[in-house]
Amino acid sequence: MTALPEQATTLEAEVARRRTFAIISHPDAGKTTLTEKLLLYGGAIEVAGAVRSRRAGRHTTSDWMAIEQSRGISITSTVLQFEYEGFCLNLLDTPGHEDFSEDTYRTLAATDSAVMVLDSAKGIEPQTRKLFEVCRMRQIPIICFINKLDHPGRDPFDLIAEIERELHVNAMPVNWPIGNGPNFQGVFDLRTREVLRFERTSHGAHIAPVTVSGLQDPQLEDMLGPTATTDLREAAELLEGAGTNFDHDEFAHGRLIPVFFGSAINNFGVEPFLRAILEFAPAPVSRGGVDPCDPTFTGFVFKIQANMDKRHRDRLAFMRVTSGVFEKDMLVHHTRLDREVRMTRPHRLFARERETIERAYPGDVIGFVNPGLFRIGDAVSSGAPVQFERIPRFAPEHFGMLRAKQVTRQKQFQKGLEQLEEEGVMQVLTLHEGLKSEPILAVVGELQFDVLRSRLETEYDVETTINVLPYKIARWVDRDVDEVAKMTLPSKSRLAVDTDGKPVVLFTSSWELEYAEKENPGVVFSSAS
Ligand code: G4P
Repeated sequence: MTALPEQATTLEAEVARRRTFAIISHPDAGKTTLTEKLLLYGGAIEVAGAVRSRRAGRHTTSDWMAIEQSRGISITSTVLQFEYEGFCLNLLDTPGHEDFSEDTYRTLAATDSAVMVLDSAKGIEPQTRKLFEVCRMRQIPIICFINKLDHPGRDPFDLIAEIERELHVNAMPVNWPIGNGPNFQGVFDLRTREVLRFERTSHGAHIAPVTVSGLQDPQLEDMLGPTATTDLREAAELLEGAGTNFDHDEFAHGRLIPVFFGSAINNFGVEPFLRAILEFAPAPVSRGGVDPCDPTFTGFVFKIQANMDKRHRDRLAFMRVTSGVFEKDMLVHHTRLDREVRMTRPHRLFARERETIERAYPGDVIGFVNPGLFRIGDAVSSGAPVQFERIPRFAPEHFGMLRAKQVTRQKQFQKGLEQLEEEGVMQVLTLHEGLKSEPILAVVGELQFDVLRSRLETEYDVETTINVLPYKIARWVDRDVDEVAKMTLPSKSRLAVDTDGKPVVLFTSSWELEYAEKENPGVVFSSAS
């Protein structure tokens, strides 16, 4: 496909102004609040509370959100696009609970950078560490927001040291808090040498007033008091002495993390942070050797989600644009199907609302109503076929046999399983031997069983019972099923097949797996198909 010269200019400009990022945090650190405040500054919402109400249940449109509410975790991912100072930001909201790390992994495969939110009283928490590891594997640049400065928190030097120690990175404070908890007075910008004052307002729903002055300003002491002023001057000196400089390459590979302090609920430090995202976060870069400014449109599917909205009752495939300009109804080559498909009904998603879009650029995420056309990892191109790096699946560790309570609901039960597997909620296996046809569901985290059953009930009207099985490990064997059936395997292990007919052996312990490997030299037992 040859592009017109003016189109090429537009494409480059559109790529340059895009920032596609995700927010990662341990539950409760303030991810939802920060998201909401970023959208507030971006003008995408007008009243604080619009994002939160999704969790509070006022505007939920799917009953499966009930789990989300009762467990206080965010299960679904949403994609939010908003404009700020000429930039176009795509915010990918990642699920925060460890049981959903597989979904998170897929979302992080579609992002160009990540914002890591920490609670100033807690620092690095288990889920922060886990999500960080995923970012590290993908070499995603990270910007850190240390939240809840209005609450008594830990010493900022301690927090910085913890980030460096626990994550094995360099942390570079960009601003520095003045006071703590009830005595929190604002932040000092270490680059501009300005003091941003925090003034408590009756409610944090409006943009907090900010007064700016210099560090040597004689009025500083009147404003902050002698102790805070001395502390600040000393801290600034210490930090200058430590002198972590910004190294772009280190940042781009996630080894240097710029750190900001603030209080999301009070809108404090949020706007400078949003500006920092524009400044630090990268515009879309090459993926799988595909330059975003290449006029050939390419994209890949990183997530499938069914029944996001009961009014629509359909499946959405989320596609990240990797290069070129996407145009509604364009014909593209679908690599896996090896045929041309027409890209009809593209949607932009704002939380649960959707609108049709005409065009999209690299970094953008398009939602397609998916009539079974797309699977996770599928790639499309308006030119030569493309293939991107596979999105890895985690090996399942929990297995259960699911049964529909009423035989009359068998058809809906099958349909539900099919669609939920397509989303990647679980993998469906069938025992090779015996006549039992009940499917074995394989999941990464146990909580996914609850999610599954609840979704089958609310979305497909199928009540189920589950029989949790003793297996702990699944290993794919790249051989014919009948060949695997003849192998010497531990007596408690079971041979099953996945939906592609590939053989999978289920083991109850790592000892059993080792035994199988010893008995079958040369056979590879892999954790993914
Ligand atoms: P999450 O998405 O990471 O799970 O966190 P979320 O934003 O839901 O925030 C968790 C809790 O922390 C919420 O309180 C929220 O109001 C509070 N919070 C967020 N930012 C700040 C901050 O800057 N300072 C303080 N002091 N608190 C903050 P909650 O009681 O769970 O909910 P709500 O009653 O406020 O709705």
